[in-house]
Amino acid sequence: MAKACVIGWPVEHSRSPLIHRYWLAEYGIDGTYDKEAVRPEDFVAFVGALAEHGYVGANVTLPHKEAALRLARSADEAAIAIGAVNTLWLDAEGRLHASNTDAYGFMTNLDAEAPQWNEGLGAAMVLGAGGAARAVLYGLIKATDAKIFVANRTRARAEALAHLFGPRVEVVDWGARNAAFGTCGLLINTTSLGMTGQAPLDIDLTALPQDAVVADIVYNPLLTPLLVAAAKRGNATVDGLGMLLHQAVPGFERWFGVRPEVTPALRAHVVASLSPEAA
Ligand SMILES: NC(=O)c1ccc[n+]([C@@H]2O[C@H](COP(=O)([O-])OP(=O)(O)OC[C@H]3O[C@@H](n4cnc5c(N)ncnc54)[C@H](OP(=O)(O)O)[C@@H]3O)[C@@H](O)[C@H]2O)c1
Repeated sequence: MAKACVIGWPVEHSRSPLIHRYWLAEYGIDGTYDKEAVRPEDFVAFVGALAEHGYVGANVTLPHKEAALRLARSADEAAIAIGAVNTLWLDAEGRLHASNTDAYGFMTNLDAEAPQWNEGLGAAMVLGAGGAARAVLYGLIKATDAKIFVANRTRARAEALAHLFGPRVEVVDWGARNAAFGTCGLLINTTSLGMTGQAPLDIDLTALPQDAVVADIVYNPLLTPLLVAAAKRGNATVDGLGMLLHQAVPGFERWFGVRPEVTPALRAHVVASLSPEAA
């Protein structure tokens, strides 16, 4: 029997078990997917004993994503570029390997839900400069030649990302974000604003082209105030749940040997755990 888990502190909120346990049942796999609440000071020892705990691999969530990168024997290009890890696995010799699948999850979902997003794209706007923004920027840089604006409340964090990802990334003052939408065919919220329990994202979409795609990586609620406002004015929208579902695919395949599918039934299964829509 193969066992995997999600390691976090706290970990109770994680929806990864919902996804992986659904697939285990769906594909009739003899395996388990557990939640492991591990304090930061215990993380190195826990991961060092992953095999002794019976695990073939794990997802890693806050606050361990950077520490996991330092512990891995090898990490893929995405994990190194993003500077954080969300997926770990042990090879046959017990060596630890690491990946970051958030960029894969975001881009795969964007391609599936709004396949036109890159057609004639002049510029994209990324709101936020935290860990998730790094993954989104990494994915965008590889997938498009368009200019990418980044606006973040703390400008220095946006500047750090521009420095990291190069001259195609241009920093826009947080206060000037609305005025910069005019040339943007893609707008992505990667801040935590709009999430249940947080303030809504304060935004004015007037300057955004009618054919722009609007994506939010916040998935609880599924329909954030941003997505509701964008849909109301006719923009195509992409919610954050698809990213969450798709980022889980490579890990499941590593641990359990089957490449699982993101289906409407899986989506409905996870949606049932979310808050009702905003607005
Ligand atoms: N769909 C998915 O699969 C997925 C994956 C990862 C994350 N997420 C979601 O993405 C969101 C961000 O995650 P993260 O890991 O990037 O978090 P993070 O590293 O803590 O970054 C939070 C971001 O939100 C901004 N922010 C927070 N409060 C703000 C406020 N009051 N006004 C303006 N900006 C504010 C921060 O700006 P400052 O830099 O100024 O603090 C920063 O840019 C979370 O809601 C998370 O659940 C979704």
